[in-house]
Amino acid sequence: MNKKIMILNGSPRKAGNTTALTAAFTKGAQAAGNSVTEFFLDNLHINGCKGCFGGGKNPESPCVQKDDMDQIYPVYKAADIVVLATPLYYWTISGQLKSAFDRLFAVAECDPHYRNPKKQSILIMAAEGSGFEESEYWYDRLQKHLGWKSLGKILCGGVMAVGDIKGKPELQQAYQLGESIH
Ligand SMILES: Cc1cc2nc3c(=O)[nH]c(=O)nc-3n(C[C@H](O)[C@H](O)[C@H](O)COP(=O)(O)O)c2cc1C
Repeated sequence: MNKKIMILNGSPRKAGNTTALTAAFTKGAQAAGNSVTEFFLDNLHINGCKGCFGGGKNPESPCVQKDDMDQIYPVYKAADIVVLATPLYYWTISGQLKSAFDRLFAVAECDPHYRNPKKQSILIMAAEGSGFEESEYWYDRLQKHLGWKSLGKILCGGVMAVGDIKGKPELQQAYQLGESIH
């Protein structure tokens, strides 16, 4: 059965290295018959979570804050697979991705026990160096907490400027990971 895939892309550089990886992944995933919706979070207006614990009352628009997260919520709910894509910023994910992900808590608030919808997921990252350990730790902890299943990680180090990723084997790995989804 073909899968519905949602990509949360936290890179502000639309022609950058993270997006080159998500583009290769998307090409592979679509070639295998899956549908992909990618959100370029930097183009959207998404506030940080207020920590009010007041969400979850309206499943169609579960957060008390009304902003562009309302575009993401329905796609998230329908998605089989959630791809978290981000450049490495100071040994962690970008603020754009963190803000959006925190706001998905409002979906869990729709459940009386804060249960999260069950998903599969993928981590895609680009960095100048290769210090992905802290982000992997965060991602692994997140998967465990949410009860999600990780399908893989594509971590591409050694890329700083736009275009540095050209010819890197991680592009092919991203394509193959996408293509492996059925
Ligand atoms: C604010 C900021 C923080 C960064 N922090 C790190 C870092 O901790 N480690 C690293 O290897 N690269 C770091 N970088 C470099 C980016 O991860 C790298 O340029 C990456 O290729 C950017 O991805 P993009 O092309 O998708 O924007 C940082 C870049 C910026 C702008």
